[in-house]
Amino acid sequence: MPQITVVNQAGEERGIEAPLGRTLMEVIRDNGFDELLALCGGCCSCATCHVHIDAAFMDKVPTMSEDENDLLDSSDHRNGFSRLSCQIPMTDALDGLKVTIAQED
Ligand code: FES
Repeated sequence: MPQITVVNQAGEERGIEAPLGRTLMEVIRDNGFDELLALCGGCCSCATCHVHIDAAFMDKVPTMSEDENDLLDSSDHRNGFSRLSCQIPMTDALDGLKVTIAQED
């Protein structure tokens, strides 16, 4: 099972297991990171699952949809590593990923 490291908004890191078939959002939320609100439940309509992906993994996540791109534009904390974690299914290629929960808008 892939292992990932999550960095919370305070900068604290924790390693967790990330089962295949779940989305990155579900994995982070289900491990008790309450600050990842994920208000829409993964429908790509809220942008409260905003994370920053480790640079080394940017080419291992799916291409961003236009909807995701538009939603991220509404965030003041968007940068070149921004993604909505509900749009990223866990795969073996993401083993070792480090992901940072974006600051709240
Ligand atoms: S959970 Fe709402 S956009 Fe990801």
